[in-house]
Amino acid sequence: ELGAYPFYMLKEIDEQPVVLRRLLSNYTDADGQVNMPEELLAAMQQADRLYFVAAGTSYHASLVAAPLFEQLAGVPVTVAFASEFGYHMPLLSKKPLFVFLTQSGETADIRQVLVKVKALGLPSLTITNVPTSTLAREADFALSLHAGPEIAVASTKAYTAQVATCALLAQALGIYLNNDAAKQFDVAHKLTMIATAQQQLVDEKDQIHEFAQKMFKTTRNAFYIGRGSDYYLSLEAALKLKEISYIQAEGFAAGELKHGTIALIEENTPVVAIVSDPVTAAHTRANATEVQARGAAVMRIATESLAQPGDELVVPDTDPLLTPLVTIVPCQLLAYYASLDRGYDVDRPRNLAKSVTVE
Ligand code: F6R
Repeated sequence: ELGAYPFYMLKEIDEQPVVLRRLLSNYTDADGQVNMPEELLAAMQQADRLYFVAAGTSYHASLVAAPLFEQLAGVPVTVAFASEFGYHMPLLSKKPLFVFLTQSGETADIRQVLVKVKALGLPSLTITNVPTSTLAREADFALSLHAGPEIAVASTKAYTAQVATCALLAQALGIYLNNDAAKQFDVAHKLTMIATAQQQLVDEKDQIHEFAQKMFKTTRNAFYIGRGSDYYLSLEAALKLKEISYIQAEGFAAGELKHGTIALIEENTPVVAIVSDPVTAAHTRANATEVQARGAAVMRIATESLAQPGDELVVPDTDPLLTPLVTIVPCQLLAYYASLDRGYDVDRPRNLAKSVTVE
């Protein structure tokens, strides 16, 4: 199964363009129209708010998904940790619908929320990579991620499949609701272009390996910063790094740095700045310059149209709502090489299990 790959994680990173194309062929027809189950769209149409409840990487994918539903379908979204939500449930809206993003479909923290949601008689959707899983069977609706088995403990292709599936669903819901923003958002075309961009990035492994060596060889900590979707991406990039390389890493809203965390910046502290949002690019760049002036080793990952001379890595452009599908690829590779170069078992990091079936 591994073929020529030393670890499943690398194989699964490489599979992401294929997974994206597979999702497109499962959820769109030849003219680019998205097909989602009619009964699901009808149930979602009734909802006045979506509650995304998830854990870990799937929680980070939910953060990226939320603005897609808000902007394309005009429905407000709350995103919550499953481990918190069940026991500290916020005041719910009048017509909530629950969405559980979960690779395994077996996460106990989500299951306890689903049990409570069902007891309240509220509708639920599970989006999972395992269609036969507990959470897929017990929710009212289920969608598959079509990512194929994910073996490495660190989730990679499931994350991009989750974001892409949510983009497709948000667009389908927006069209169903006759929303202009959705009509103008050609999601099939955008995801096709993103698959090509991902392919280009997985082909640039050597360059990213060099950055990993430069940035992470001996460091004990690291920061990823960005705003908006770049911030949500930063959270996932930091989780990837810490879980397999054991480097203490933090994803940070770039503007929050100066409110305390900048005190941690020392000579050569690695800071990866993500610049893909035209609205906030200048501000994030200013934050990167600030930490650089305090000695940080800065790596800027910028999209083509926002790139400036001196940016360490330039990635292809896409819609600002979808850039995490592109920028995550170098970040996954940075984490992979940091772990590899430290001699760790990339696929089986200490203290972690692939599916977390205890609360
Ligand atoms: C990180 C990772 C975990 C899972 C989390 C949720 O790489 O794998 O953070 O994302 O345990 O698992 P699922 O998606 O199966 O509910």
